[in-house]
Amino acid sequence: MSQMTIQGGKALTGRVDLRGAKNLVTKAMVAALLADSPSLLRDVPHISDVEVVSRLLQLHGVTIDFQDNGEMRLDPTNVKSARMVDIDAHAGSSRIPILFCGPLLHQLGEAFIPDLGGCHIGDRPIDFHLDVLRNFGAVIEKLPNGTRMSAPDGLHGAKISLPYPSVGATEQVLLTAVRSEGITELSGAAIEPEIVDLIAILQKMGAIISVDTDRVIRIEGVKRLDGYTHRALFDRNEAASWAAAALATKGDIFVGGARQPEMMTFLNVFRKVGGAFEIEDDGIRFFHPGGELQPVVIETDVHPGFMTDWQQPLVVALTQAKGLSIVHETVYENRFGFTEALNQMGAQIQIYRECLGGNPCRFGQRNFYHSAVISGPTELHGADIRVPDLRGGFSHIVAALAARGTSNVTNVQLISRGYEHFLSKLESLGADFTYSE
Ligand code: EPZ
Repeated sequence: MSQMTIQGGKALTGRVDLRGAKNLVTKAMVAALLADSPSLLRDVPHISDVEVVSRLLQLHGVTIDFQDNGEMRLDPTNVKSARMVDIDAHAGSSRIPILFCGPLLHQLGEAFIPDLGGCHIGDRPIDFHLDVLRNFGAVIEKLPNGTRMSAPDGLHGAKISLPYPSVGATEQVLLTAVRSEGITELSGAAIEPEIVDLIAILQKMGAIISVDTDRVIRIEGVKRLDGYTHRALFDRNEAASWAAAALATKGDIFVGGARQPEMMTFLNVFRKVGGAFEIEDDGIRFFHPGGELQPVVIETDVHPGFMTDWQQPLVVALTQAKGLSIVHETVYENRFGFTEALNQMGAQIQIYRECLGGNPCRFGQRNFYHSAVISGPTELHGADIRVPDLRGGFSHIVAALAARGTSNVTNVQLISRGYEHFLSKLESLGADFTYSE
């Protein structure tokens, strides 16, 4: 298990450069399966989520050429079925395999999907996905270690309404509808920037997709699709993570590739807490301008609300704000596990079952600790920490960097799932740490 020993109390200053969004590039890779010709995806980060999807695509006959400069060429012209045992072995901790269903059903008439992984931040069900696929005409069989699907009569367009604007389920519809016979109408869709970028990719391939003002997405199925050339949208979750790190360590970080339009909501909250930022043509400078940090009330939501993936690193900065901050997590039912380690380091964070600080949400009347109250400022001191998940893990590293003294952090490899060259970026920002595999 990989471990870091971190000497805290040093401000992070310097520059990091982003590559494409983890939560877009993995889906764009799956989209390449739908084409009759090769695709070229630019700005792909070297992260383990991309490795997992690459291995699964190669298992299905896709040839992949991935350069150090982030250019990835995918050739799906010899797509084939794969053995269940091989698929199972390669699923890893990713949730992306569920998105292979539509493309494999179109290309091969069958698909096997292993039980999924992903961060333990809630139950992570796939009921929306399976309902969507049944609507398109897929026959689904649950097996002990996964799910087998077939489409004996091919796939046809459907009228679908999602009970919640699920990012994954929206992607499931998009990747299945584009080559399904007829029209698909999806209401209650997610419209995150990564979804819009995936729609742009599909349109380049020959798909016909419209997004209406009322979150209704309409797709007219086409018989075939061509490969695409696309530069992936930047990773706004990584940008927000480094911004929070600058605030928590009293630092100054220029995040190359970050863009204002996709981060407006984050920038407003960052400014309200007391952070400062400067928008440049090639990125955004995030820094602590001095003075006290202010408490805020945050309610996470789907886009254009405050993203659930942004709250964990920012909570560390809120431990340094003067007063009580509230975070109401309405997207995942169990996403405050990371606060336990912060409390061991001297933070004062209490989590509650109630919906605090905002509107009642899906989790209010059930037994989920999905609201947090952060009292500050508190002095953080080093501790022994085990990284629980991707974003929580990043917040632990930030806390260790901001804390007085030494911290030993284990299970650090989880962070490389989503943050490319994480250790060298930290080194370039002046962090004082040692690392051992
Ligand atoms: C994507 O997860 C992202 N992951 C998540 O980022 C992100 O937090 C999330 O979208 C919300 O923006 C990837 O894109 C790989 P959802 P996804 O389906 O698609 C419930 C990170 O750190 N739900 O929008 O799995 C679900 O339980 C990760 O980068 C069902 O009930 O998210 C959750 O409460 C973490 N049934 C809510 O919907 C389903 O079939 C939102 O999930 C599917 C989802």
